[in-house]
Amino acid sequence: MLVLGIESSCDETAFAVVEDDKRVLSSVIASQMSLHAVYGGVIPEIAAREHLKAIYPTYLESLRMADKSFSDVDMIAITQGPGLVGALLVGTAFAKGLAHGSRSATRNIPLVPVDHVHAHVHGALLGVPVEDKDQHLFPCLALVVSGGHSNLYYMQNATSFELLSYTIDDACGECFDKVAKLLGLAYPGGPVIERMAKQGDPKQFAMPKMMVEKDKLLFSYSGLKTHMYYLLKKLGEDISDTQKADACAAFQEEALGQLVRKLKIASEKYPAIRSVVIAGGVSANQRFRELMRVQFPKTKVHFPDLRFCSDNAAMIAAYGWNVYQQAHDKQQFLKHNWDVYSRYKYDL
Ligand code: KG4
Ligand code: ZN
Repeated sequence: MLVLGIESSCDETAFAVVEDDKRVLSSVIASQMSLHAVYGGVIPEIAAREHLKAIYPTYLESLRMADKSFSDVDMIAITQGPGLVGALLVGTAFAKGLAHGSRSATRNIPLVPVDHVHAHVHGALLGVPVEDKDQHLFPCLALVVSGGHSNLYYMQNATSFELLSYTIDDACGECFDKVAKLLGLAYPGGPVIERMAKQGDPKQFAMPKMMVEKDKLLFSYSGLKTHMYYLLKKLGEDISDTQKADACAAFQEEALGQLVRKLKIASEKYPAIRSVVIAGGVSANQRFRELMRVQFPKTKVHFPDLRFCSDNAAMIAAYGWNVYQQAHDKQQFLKHNWDVYSRYKYDL
């Protein structure tokens, strides 16, 4: 099946053309990041208006790059939520228009609304060979670490998401962004802190270890952020570049360390798992990948290709295809009687 994926939940307008959940023919992302960077975070009103400008040209570009036309598309998958409501409305209204416009005597293509956070996991699975997916993937632990979420799931199959853990305050990526702001660094903070941390020594500053209770899976990042606030206040305006780099390295080590600790506890609680999947913006972090290699030497750990870590539409298409395949009632995807955000109406 040729699937058109659409993503507009935050500050990226993205379209992708994907064969089933396997071959990505095109993945086009119109990022608004530079517009929001001056404010140090995403402004919802600006995001929605920019989606409206970018949505049609990005759609055309995705078909052009895939060398396909809309008449070749067999299914549309769209982010239904979570995300910024105004931003989601632009994408979903466009998707419903496309699907509705496809109706003729011979054609009526399904429109599959999907959960953005779940879809990130499928971004990490795009490069996994089919034999591995069939035999060595599920059940698995899947961790989505982005600007809005730090969610840990137990997955029996491609569409079953049992939420084991989440953050009780800030998300991991959000904490990277806020600490970068305290340091006077650019938005988004994750990549900048990672770059600075490479020059620093993590042992120069002690960091509090958050949520260390042995059996607890929940995440927390606000204490680490507050610790950084007081550390930087103490270092004052005269903080040197070396101290900044050391602070970044120490912060990053604990921010990622917490993720690795929780994954360890979860893997002991669920010994039957065949793999661990890590996804979302923070999964681009190379130090995170290294820590996982060291701490999980015998476990198959899947990270996304770098272009599928942050928001993209290929992951939406791939997950949408899986939802469609597993749904008993495929007629539900012709109705379009759903709203944005969290009202996922489909039945699997
Ligand atoms: O998945 P994503 O693109 O958007 C959301 O759905 O939130 O994630 C963005 C988040 C930001 O908080 C950003 O700072 C973080 O991912 N991030 C990173 C890295 N690259 C992006 N965090 C740590 N290290 C990175 N290399
Ligand atoms: Zn995301």
